[in-house]
Amino acid sequence: MGKDHGDDIDALPLFPFARTDPFHPPAQYAEARRQCPVSPVRLWNRQRAWLLTRLAQFRSVLQDRRFSGEFARPDFPAVTEARVAIDKAERAFVGMDNPRHQHFRRMFTREFSHKRMMALRPRVEAIAADLLDRMERKGPPADLVADLAVTLPALVMCELFGSPYEDHAYIMKCAAGRHGLRQTPEEAARTASDLVAYCRALIDAKERQPADDMLSRVIAEFVLPGTLGRDEFADICAMILRAGHDTTTNMIGVGTLVLFQHPEQLARLKADPSLVEQAVEELLRYVTPVQFAPRRVALEDVELCGMRIRKGDGIFAVAPSANRDEDAFPDPDRLDIGRDASQHVSFGYGIHQCLGQGLARIELHVVFTALFARFPGLRLACRLEDVPFKYDSQIFGTYRLPVEW
Ligand code: HEM
Repeated sequence: MGKDHGDDIDALPLFPFARTDPFHPPAQYAEARRQCPVSPVRLWNRQRAWLLTRLAQFRSVLQDRRFSGEFARPDFPAVTEARVAIDKAERAFVGMDNPRHQHFRRMFTREFSHKRMMALRPRVEAIAADLLDRMERKGPPADLVADLAVTLPALVMCELFGSPYEDHAYIMKCAAGRHGLRQTPEEAARTASDLVAYCRALIDAKERQPADDMLSRVIAEFVLPGTLGRDEFADICAMILRAGHDTTTNMIGVGTLVLFQHPEQLARLKADPSLVEQAVEELLRYVTPVQFAPRRVALEDVELCGMRIRKGDGIFAVAPSANRDEDAFPDPDRLDIGRDASQHVSFGYGIHQCLGQGLARIELHVVFTALFARFPGLRLACRLEDVPFKYDSQIFGTYRLPVEW
């Protein structure tokens, strides 16, 4: 058996590590990739967990059934106490192992198919064009986060769900209230149950008055025949709303800022907009908005990279680190929109790999095309030091992004 670091939990470094550079993950990850790619850490509750910092173990563990992704397990690892409350309140399939996970997820795969997503693309383009019109009318400076990055995914969610556009403000509030690392367990639980109640009411409304949208189709196909309960469906809807909002918002905000910081890469994209798909993959790799997921817990003792992981130990597959793995991405700290970044794991890996990645990609392709076509001279309207970064959130991003053109 490999090294298990004994029982001296207090000797282990406390996780999560503070992020100090907005464009690079904590330096401890690079050190771990070099010295000890499967690294032991201590969590807030003195639980031991292991960081998977390289792509190889990231992928192998997320496909290994000796590790569970059941949020309800008492030993499931979390970065804060509030996050435990959120995990225990999560009843949708993101927190389930197979076969239950697959039972529910397959009811939604058609709704996120390539064909459905392509059908949604013109609506995403129209929403983006409308938001850019408004920005242009108001004139510079604008806050790219409020005026585009937060609003666009919320309106796209309304489109997907067939919910009234006026509801987008409420969706934005609930999504934002979820990912802070400083919120209390009570606040976290309240935000979660509010959003489920909103979805439950929406399901009732769609059942009374069906339309051409995801909710109405799932009601007809699975709820009415009795395969999916209304409360189960409400939990899944709330999960999809949360999963699809803050992530996309922060990719738009930080992605734009990263391009500002790399003027030669931005010039390449403006000169050849057909690079946008490759550029978005590279931005997803470079930014990696989701900081501390996917997670697992060991169901038995497992030896990995010479380390002895014990039953009940937590696992963090650290996407921001795996996306900077030197073996997979040469010169990983350099942004290069021409590189093939398609192996990145910003959407997770294995059975829980992001269900909405097709939609996220469409939103990002549309934004990074339309934004610079409309405002070729778009630039940051404050000093970099004055950009308020979300160092206190599970989803890295910026609270505001002042821009001018
Ligand atoms: C840039 C935007 C996005 C990023 C970076 C992202 C990232 C992720 C990641 C890392 C996971 C895996 C979580 C885990 O294993 O614990 C995930 C799962 C998921 N995402 Fe996304 N996501 C994005 C956008 C979206 C959108 C737009 C939707 C839907 C509208 C969505 C819906 C989901 C769902 C339903 C899951 C759970 C899948 C499952 O458990 O089977 N995501 N996402």
